[in-house]
Amino acid sequence: MPYATEENLTDLALERWNNIPDPRLREVMQSFVKHLHGFVREIEPTPQEWFAAIDWLTRTGKISSEKRQEFILASDVLGISMLVDALNNRRVSGATPNTVEGPFHIPGSPELADGENVTDGAPGIPCFVVGHVRDLNGKPIGGVTLDMWQTDGEGLYEDQRGSSEPYMRGIYHSKADGGFTVRTVAPIGYTIPMDGPVGELMGRTKISHFRPAHIHFCLEAPGYHRCVTHLFEKGDKYIETDVVFGVKEPLITTFNKMPAGAKAPTGETMNEPFYVVNYDFVMQATAKAAAA
Ligand code: BEZ
Ligand code: FE
Repeated sequence: MPYATEENLTDLALERWNNIPDPRLREVMQSFVKHLHGFVREIEPTPQEWFAAIDWLTRTGKISSEKRQEFILASDVLGISMLVDALNNRRVSGATPNTVEGPFHIPGSPELADGENVTDGAPGIPCFVVGHVRDLNGKPIGGVTLDMWQTDGEGLYEDQRGSSEPYMRGIYHSKADGGFTVRTVAPIGYTIPMDGPVGELMGRTKISHFRPAHIHFCLEAPGYHRCVTHLFEKGDKYIETDVVFGVKEPLITTFNKMPAGAKAPTGETMNEPFYVVNYDFVMQATAKAAAA
């Protein structure tokens, strides 16, 4: 076996890392070695720069815990989370697209009746999200689970409020005609956590560290692809610069401002201004269900 030179090192490493019985792991490691060597050859790091990179990765690991995952945040701001999401959730045109789930989903939210208020006194402008869930042929889908979570009107999630009770999250179900009404408060745009290694790196760039206002939804129904998505407020100042690349055009929707005294979709007369968001979700049948 030849000894290492600058010229042959990539080939030597590829040959050594070919020695993996599991074909998928072999494919992954071959590609990883090839691209990592290409990266190093391109940037030619000094030893100090290489150590700074290793130190950054070390600190990213150390700050991560059960409650905080700095590596996921790194993957989010580099567009990797959205790329993995896109590759794994290809949908036909007309179906509601998926987008990144993010770190704030908490399973086991309370079940809410149609139109029931999810906010329990949380700050913010009342907001009704009203629509139908349909399939690609326009057929209503009843019994869809709509698991939703969001910030309150001050841009904070349950975890950030330190609430011991479920906060700004709930599970609705579409009615037989596919209809649903969510009662909440309007979310606002917020910054990703900036007090760790990812924030430190972002601070050395001119990249916006904000997400535009959005409401998360996870729709599930037997025979359909799970749809993990958000609704974004049209006109939000961060809509074109979402730090995690989560915005997709079909997910941008108008938050219609209504005056005090107007009737809400639930039939009640509101004594303060509020928003109405009309949005229809379109779920794509799984290949198995479509073939049946
Ligand atoms: C979120 O929307 O909750 C989120 C997604 C990715 C990174 C940070 C936050
Ligand atoms: Fe979010």
